[in-house]
Amino acid sequence: MTKNNKKAIIAFGATLLIMIALFAAVCLKTNLYNKKVHRQTIESNTLFSESTDDSGIAVTAVPRSSTWGKIFDFNNEGLTENNYQAFTYDFTVSNHTKDEVSDFTFKLTFGQEVYLSSAWNGSLEVHQIRKGGEQVADIPDLREFKAEDYDALETYTVDGESLIKMKKGDYLIYTPSSSANALEIPIEPREGTVPGFILYVPMEENFNQATIEIDYTFHRLLSSEPLFWVAAVCLLIWLVALIIFIITSIQIKKYNERHRRDNEIINESIETFTGFIDAKDPYTNGHSKRVAVYTKRIAEVMGYEGEELDRIYYIALLHDCGKIGVPDHILGKPGRLTDEEYEIIKSHTVRGGEILSSFKSLEDVGEGALYHHERYDGKGYPEGKAGEDIPLIARMICVADSYDAMNTNRVYRKHLSQEEIISEIENNKGQQFDPAIADIMLGLLKSGKLAQPNS
Ligand SMILES: [Fe+2]
Repeated sequence: MTKNNKKAIIAFGATLLIMIALFAAVCLKTNLYNKKVHRQTIESNTLFSESTDDSGIAVTAVPRSSTWGKIFDFNNEGLTENNYQAFTYDFTVSNHTKDEVSDFTFKLTFGQEVYLSSAWNGSLEVHQIRKGGEQVADIPDLREFKAEDYDALETYTVDGESLIKMKKGDYLIYTPSSSANALEIPIEPREGTVPGFILYVPMEENFNQATIEIDYTFHRLLSSEPLFWVAAVCLLIWLVALIIFIITSIQIKKYNERHRRDNEIINESIETFTGFIDAKDPYTNGHSKRVAVYTKRIAEVMGYEGEELDRIYYIALLHDCGKIGVPDHILGKPGRLTDEEYEIIKSHTVRGGEILSSFKSLEDVGEGALYHHERYDGKGYPEGKAGEDIPLIARMICVADSYDAMNTNRVYRKHLSQEEIISEIENNKGQQFDPAIADIMLGLLKSGKLAQPNS
């Protein structure tokens, strides 16, 4: 796994953790919000007026137009005229929020004396505050209410109609029923519900004294939280990025594998070619590859790396390619060369430069072959270039080439000892060799870092 891949995987992991934390934060926030019990008190002045508030949870009491009178002759006074009036009220609970309302309770406290006749859309818990103590009764459906079934309550029966007397301070707790028209819990956003009552008040009065207290919790959905969608979009982007990363990584791996194979083919092709050259002279077998390895070591010390180092290696590998045109009998001649033969040998530099001039994909490849026999003092060949005029790569190959010549057996002599080689290089600094490159070679030799190539 590459360094960049590791960094990317760490980044993906860290981003995933941040998103998980974001989701957890949204869940926690929603959960806390849903657990909070909200309490709202609606006083008479608001309850009996037209609602102008269209935010939050609104409760209003709207009277129906139908009304009728009744004679309540509790003391048998022989009353003949209606003295009580019936009012039908629909209570509206409207949810103006974006959240569902759940765990809803509705408490109606009377601020005046009324007689409760009927109620619908839910069950009632009746609380009467009396001198003997608070009387409480559960009435599942007030429409079915029979006064005689509830001894503890203060009730009356008029014309067969059972009535519950609610004094100022008495209250009802309304629980929505599950019947079709009743308040449905949870109350969906933008929806309302209507518990209804019929009650009687004295003829000269109106029903306008009551307080409602509601307790409720919200059931907010995760999808109502903007942060949830932020996290969801982030997750989507993360997933797309991950898929792109995986696909790209696979493609890069394939490309690198192909690139490595191509490089192997190039490397083996050039090495095979230089093997032909070296094979012409049995005494210098493997020379090209050794020179290439030494030049590469020098380049490493000089700070070259990566593809630039490969380029230097190949240029050095091809430095003697011009020998392909030198007849074998001259290259392998055991005795002294004639001047003419020596000139033919020397021509391998120019010939090499010409051969490599068509090798365009490797920059300056011909310079190594053409100038590796130039000397720093200007006494070399083929052009007699001196000092910095000689291309750097040629100066590097020159040192590596000479080292290999001294370190291997030749037709006319055995190889030199390490001490003799070091002394030769010291003596030729500034003459045959670039002093700085010679120093690098000496450093490599003395530190034992100029390991021999395998072949
Ligand atoms: Fe050469």
